[in-house]
Amino acid sequence: MSRIVVARRIPEPALDLLRGCGETWVSPHDRPLDTAEMHAAVAGADAILTLLHDRVDGALLDAAGPQLKIVANVAVGYDNVDVGACQRRGVAFSNTPGVLTEATADIAFALVLMATRRLGEGERLIRSGTPWSFSMFFMLGTGLQGKTLGIVGLGQIGAATARRARAFGMEIVYSGRRDADPALVRELGARRLDLDELLATSDVVSLHCPLSAETHHLIGAPQLAAMRPTAYLVNTTRGPVVDEGALAEGLRAGEIAGAGLDVFEREPTVHPALLDLENVVLIPHLGSATIETRTAMGLLAARNACAVLDGGRPLTPVG
Ligand code: GLV
Repeated sequence: MSRIVVARRIPEPALDLLRGCGETWVSPHDRPLDTAEMHAAVAGADAILTLLHDRVDGALLDAAGPQLKIVANVAVGYDNVDVGACQRRGVAFSNTPGVLTEATADIAFALVLMATRRLGEGERLIRSGTPWSFSMFFMLGTGLQGKTLGIVGLGQIGAATARRARAFGMEIVYSGRRDADPALVRELGARRLDLDELLATSDVVSLHCPLSAETHHLIGAPQLAAMRPTAYLVNTTRGPVVDEGALAEGLRAGEIAGAGLDVFEREPTVHPALLDLENVVLIPHLGSATIETRTAMGLLAARNACAVLDGGRPLTPVG
């Protein structure tokens, strides 16, 4: 019987599916396992289900042993995984694209609205008991209609965010390694720009590129300086795509008007300088955090594992 290791608790329907495919061990902790715990847990595993904070490298794969057939990441991002190390050992690797697109785009656009309409500030004001009254000039934000949204990385989530922006009357520009699908470009009326041009022309910049060596600190001090002082930055991809120290300084100095962050460089730690700023909205990595989406992610990862344990291919392989 196959042995399946689930590194952190996932929704019950996914565990039920896995139990039908093999003897399933689920970490009893609702926290990431440390390296020693993880290596001990995976010994003898045929399949491992990992989350975004679990480091999947050669050492982990070797700790599992040569019978390991698949690592199924319960996330679309896989910067936690050394895909080459999986390939060299003939271990299949899968992620969970598609099922979290709409939930994550909802959060990206929620951050656009929160940042541009100062909703975090407003909430804090009321909760602090600060006196206020409606006035023509009280807590004014920035409207979105006719403004330009710059999407960095027009993949599925970037496109879903752009669709929301179109419904709010925004124009779309995007940057990326290659031209997007012409039908999508037509649907969105989108224009492709170099990143520098996108930063200089966008009223809101939303990051949707995966984290890699090329995108680490893609947005740092020079890029923030290239943005308009009235512009906003939203990050729902991975924290290290933004140099958090440079962002805190840019926000403090008024280089940009505001930001909305769902992800951080050293989660769960947030750069202390951000915590003191009114013009940044901070939420704790909630992009895919709906019951429906987390269930769908768990089920897709479980289906990927079961398919490989049955001698087939993952539904959503990487590489
Ligand atoms: C969440 O951050 C994911 O990559 O699925």
